[in-house]
Amino acid sequence: MTIQWYPGHMGKAHKEISELVGKIDVIIEILDARLPASSSNILLTKLRRNKPCIKVLNKNDLADPAVTRSWVRTFEKRTGVCALPLSAKQHPEVKQLIRLCQRLAPHRGKPGKPLRAMVVGIPNVGKSTLINTLAGKSMAKVGDKPAITSCAQQIDLRNGIILSDTPGLLWPDMSDQVAAYRLATSGAIGVNALDYTTVGHFAAGFMLHRYPELLRSRYQLADLPESAITLLEEIGRRLGCKAAGGVIDLHRTAEAFLRELRAGKLGRVSFEEPAQEPEEAGTEVTEAVEVGERGKPPVTDTERRAVVDAA
Ligand code: G4P
Repeated sequence: MTIQWYPGHMGKAHKEISELVGKIDVIIEILDARLPASSSNILLTKLRRNKPCIKVLNKNDLADPAVTRSWVRTFEKRTGVCALPLSAKQHPEVKQLIRLCQRLAPHRGKPGKPLRAMVVGIPNVGKSTLINTLAGKSMAKVGDKPAITSCAQQIDLRNGIILSDTPGLLWPDMSDQVAAYRLATSGAIGVNALDYTTVGHFAAGFMLHRYPELLRSRYQLADLPESAITLLEEIGRRLGCKAAGGVIDLHRTAEAFLRELRAGKLGRVSFEEPAQEPEEAGTEVTEAVEVGERGKPPVTDTERRAVVDAA
């Protein structure tokens, strides 16, 4: 199955971000700490020019701390880029972002010279949550459907900083199917764009390879199954996801497994790592290479089984 999700906002986003970048002092790019490359957007890289950029690795409470540290090191090798892991719901952590903005634009943030920061990120990375925490009240709509908001707004934080929110402007690169599967696993892609069972197999294969101990402990598995498909069936048995006749309902199992994984019930998990040195300035996306992404994502059932089993 090929995940397709191409909203028609690209041209509008290009124009609006380009105009905004000219008027702001600091870019705050929100990424999902569990998949910082797949949740980034190449458009921003192209339009960033030389503006200071803070890569917020949000949902840090869900990500593997060691992997996040390596992402921070990777990002901070880039000129004008700082990386800050945080959880958008945690006020003390979010306060660090204010201090970092002030450090990056010390000439601004004074009476008559507000520091202008632009918040960007693909849907569901936590922009609204972060803005709400920063603003101290519920100003931006937070919701469970990606892309729920669709018009730009300015928010005066009353501390010398004015935020430009850019909801609905940036989208992930869906031409990269491995990234698409990771996004689907994380929940960033809406329910209409994916098939739970296929994504569940992908996620099970990844976990089997990368975090077997977390699987063992969550599902009390003394012996781990060898393939993702048998793993998912086993999880279905443990979770009681049975259909009529006692067979395992794989759709329900995948849904339940993904829900647990996304909520951090298995533990802190990162879906990709920076596998190589960052490329020269201008190419921001560091594609992680891991088991489970050998070539194209699965298309037919047999291919899917092969790819997932390989993971
Ligand atoms: P967006 O504006 O970028 O589209 O994202 P939004 O803030 O709406 O957040 C998307 C989902 O991610 C929300 O969950 C939100 O609570 C969750 N989230 C945001 N930041 C963090 C974080 O640091 N850690 C964790 N664990 N979750 C975070 P939801 O279930 O879709 O909505 P809700 O039920 O929380 O309202």
